[in-house]
Amino acid sequence: MDMDTGTTTTATTTAATNATAATEKAATEKAESGSMRRELGDREVFAIGLGAMPMSIRDQTDEKRSIRTIHAALDAGVMLIDTADAYSSGPDDIGHNERLVAKALATWSGDGSNVIVATKGGHLRAADGSWPVDGRPDHLREACEASLKALGVEAIGLYQFHRPDPQVPYAESVGTLRDLLDEGKIRMAGISNASVAQIEEAARIVPLASVQNEFSPAFRSSIEELSYCDRRGIAFLPWSPLGGMSHAGQLGGRHEAFAQIAEQHGVSPQQVALAWELAKSPVVIPIPGASRPETILDSVQAVRLTLNESELALLDAE
Ligand SMILES: NC(=O)c1ccc[n+]([C@@H]2O[C@H](COP(=O)([O-])OP(=O)(O)OC[C@H]3O[C@@H](n4cnc5c(N)ncnc54)[C@H](OP(=O)(O)O)[C@@H]3O)[C@@H](O)[C@H]2O)c1
Repeated sequence: MDMDTGTTTTATTTAATNATAATEKAATEKAESGSMRRELGDREVFAIGLGAMPMSIRDQTDEKRSIRTIHAALDAGVMLIDTADAYSSGPDDIGHNERLVAKALATWSGDGSNVIVATKGGHLRAADGSWPVDGRPDHLREACEASLKALGVEAIGLYQFHRPDPQVPYAESVGTLRDLLDEGKIRMAGISNASVAQIEEAARIVPLASVQNEFSPAFRSSIEELSYCDRRGIAFLPWSPLGGMSHAGQLGGRHEAFAQIAEQHGVSPQQVALAWELAKSPVVIPIPGASRPETILDSVQAVRLTLNESELALLDAE
């Protein structure tokens, strides 16, 4: 009996110890994953997204590799993919990047319902490779319908007005986002390439989930908009966070402090850049571009890199 009791007690104690260990492990994992997540409107996403643009702008020839890149990002925990209707080779190819992202999501083995695809309207892609703007409400409506089709969804996760059109009052373009939101065609609204005044104006018209502006070691003047988003709790998505497609690979060569600190941590200078951006504010969600699995897999590791105050000061001063 005693033995029985003893056995039961031992079993209970062991089970309790196991349960405590499991709870602690779960709590640690949650805390870790919590620190790797950031708010985007009413959702939470992994702190680093994937910029899909290079797969349609620079080189469209290897679709299989592009899909492997998107799958690698998703497998690594990425929950935000940034695209745009204009990420294409020209006017006859509009929606190329959106169709690619949709294809990758359809063939991914994971749960795509946790993934937010953020697309944009308001830019065109001309045959000469230039990027005219069109912020007219009629165009944005048509563009949104085309994006819904290209992405194969009933509502777009995050729809961003790509760039202010000087020919169209900003309130009219942003007002169209408000209408699309009310009609349920888009789940969240964002803007891109906006000044503080434009963010303020847009936020009066539509609940703003995000602002997407250029920000990187090479381009820091949008710190003003980043700080504004920080104060307002609006997600700030730095675009070209590594300095852009043609310079990202040489980030360390162009920015010595980033290379130095990378060496000390045994990581890439690109990871240091992304960790520096993440440290700017909890609203920051960088969207590094990639066309190869290796690069996005390196970039996502930046969420694990903590830079101390003196390192951050050094990078700020560079
Ligand atoms: N709203 C706007 O007006 C606007 C404008 C431009 C871009 N964007 C968005 O922002 C995203 C990011 O910008 P971006 O693609 O122009 O520039 P970026 O993110 O600064 O650089 C992209 C390049 O970085 C390379 N790369 C990525 N991670 C790396 C790593 N860890 N180590 C070494 N190289 C790495 C990739 O190389 P591989 O190609 O070899 O993988 C890729 O081509 C775009 O994809 C797009 O979604 C928005």
